[in-house]
This record gives sequence, C-alpha cells and structure tokens, in this order.
Amino acid sequence: MRIGILTSGGDCPGINATIRGVCKTAINYYGMEVYGIHSGFQGLIDNDMEPLTEKSMSGLLNLGGTILGTSREKPFKKRPASSTSEDKPALIAQNIRRMQLDCVVCIGGNGTQKSAAKMAAMGINVVSVPKTIDNDVWGTDLSFGFDTAVSIATDAIDRLHSTASAHKRVMVIEVMGHKAGWIALYSGMAGGGDVILLPELPYNIHNIGNTIINRLKKGKPYSIVVVGEGIATDPERKKRAGEYIAQEIEYETGFETRETVLGYIQRGGTPTSFDRNLATRMGGHATELVATGQFGRMVSLQGDTIASVPLEEVGGKLKLVPENHDLIVEGRKMGICFG
Ligand code: F6P
Repeated sequence: MRIGILTSGGDCPGINATIRGVCKTAINYYGMEVYGIHSGFQGLIDNDMEPLTEKSMSGLLNLGGTILGTSREKPFKKRPASSTSEDKPALIAQNIRRMQLDCVVCIGGNGTQKSAAKMAAMGINVVSVPKTIDNDVWGTDLSFGFDTAVSIATDAIDRLHSTASAHKRVMVIEVMGHKAGWIALYSGMAGGGDVILLPELPYNIHNIGNTIINRLKKGKPYSIVVVGEGIATDPERKKRAGEYIAQEIEYETGFETRETVLGYIQRGGTPTSFDRNLATRMGGHATELVATGQFGRMVSLQGDTIASVPLEEVGGKLKLVPENHDLIVEGRKMGICFG
C-alpha cells in the first residue's frame, strides 16, 4: 500500500512522534510506502509531497512542531456561488489518484477532523488522529499535546506564586484552550490557583473579589487567578480575557493586580514522555486501521485503550469540561473559586 500523511491546524507537541509512529509501523511492519504531504490540506491541493523513509524518522520523538509543516487551509469551506477560484475538493481527489495513495492519514484538531470527515464522505480513504493542546476533540478521552501544555502552564503558575507573594499582588494568568477550559482546569488545580475561570462556567466578579479579600483576612495577601482564554468578557471583546479579569479584580478589590498571557509557549518545544507515548500509540494504531481497511475513522483513547470512532460522529462537536468534573467538585470543597 502507499499512504500519505499530513498535519493540519495549530501545531502541538507530539505531532512528530505521531508521524514517526505511523511511518515506522507502516514501513517496518506492513511494508508500506509513505508520502509526507506538506502544509496540511494545502499540500494535497498543490500536490506538494515527498517520500518519507526510515531515515526521515530520526530525531522525531522529542521534536516539537511538525516536520511536514501545517496550515489552517479548510478545503471544504463553502465558496460563494460567484467564486471562480479552484475547486479544492476536486483537486485533492485528483492528486490522491495521481499519487496513487491508498489512504491519507490526517493528524489534526477539530477543523481537521471536519475536513477529514468530508473527504471520507467523498469516498476517499481517510484515517485521522486527534491532535490539540486544547483537549477539545470529541470522541477521545485525551489528545496528545495536552499533557505537555498543562505541564508548561503549571510550571508558569508555580513561578507566579513567589513573585505574587513577594509583592502581595493578585496575579492573573491567561492560558490557551479556545472554547474549552481543560488547560485552565488542569494547570490551575496542579498549580494551586485560588480562582480558576473556565469558559464552560459562568462567573461573578463579586465572588472572585470576595475570595481574594477573604484570603487577605486569613493572612494570605496574594492570590493566583487562572483564566481560560475563551471565558466571556466585555461584550465587545476588545481586551484579552486575562487583561479584562485583571482590570475587573483591581476595580473590585483595590488590590494591585498583574496579568500574564502565556501564549504560544504552551504549544512549542519538547513533548512530555506521556505525550510521546500517547502519540506513538495513536500513530501505530492509525497505521493498523489503514492496513486492515478500517477507513473513515479517528483514533481515540478510551480509558487506557487505544480504539477508534467513526469520523462522521466527530465532526462539528466539541468536548467541553463538564460542570460536575471531579476536579471542580473537589476544588470547590477546598475553597477554590470557579467563578
Ligand atoms: O488549537 C490550539 C490553540 O493554541 C488555541 O488554544 C488558540 O486559541 C489557537 O490555537 C491559536 O492559534 P493560532 O494563532 O495559530 O490560530
């Protein structure tokens, strides 16, 4: 068999480990040929591919980013009726035929899963792997990249404690996650946040202020506030979430408040050993799906088992933090304010 592999959407730690898992299994175990497709779906449109060999796999396990490059190209995005631009799905089908690819393995987040599902619906053989630091892909308990992002954010929160305490300040840290609060919840709890705000939960600035003032009364004149980037803010959303919350806290409490936006540091660099192993397992399983002709499926972690789900069930859904998540329930009992 000859397969193509692409990486699409925002990068995250562990993509290269997944490429390695897919390719090494394909070449070593199944005797397949593998083509690396450059820059996500753009490479399929432009027929921009290169053969991958065992040699290309050296040094990939701990390498951040993606050796194939990525883009946010969405080939199935509706074109206006008047558009004279190229028919991207047709070009994709044509290039897959031209390159004689028996299947395309798509590694990506929610947008990628949607495009992969559309390709499968066109009759193209597709297998996908979920990838995002946000952990918001529906159908899998975890995505690789999330554990690394949480450990980076936790380290950042740890470091804010000493400077917050030295200056008796409120420190607000904004973490990524898009519309989901997974990174905020896991890093906020692991980093000992006093207030943790998730996009999934409403908040009241007076509650937040009271939490901070009560801490002062208990002899703790500083506080750590962890904010998911997707929380509701001012209606015009002119400010970033962290900046908005920091300003509101200062108005509410009169305490000196500073904000930090952790940003792309959460996405760059070396994956944790957990993410390397998850990526390796998912990559190997993707190749197994290809080899056994189980197309139109996304690899998923279910409990401790690597399995798969139909792509058509995944597209367009988000996996959000449930309000009864045990970290929230236990955190509330400990006096942590979730809004
Ligand atoms: O998907 C991960 C993510 O890091 C989100 O948390 C964030 O909102 C988004 O990507 C930003 O990425 P970009 O600037 O590349 O679109």
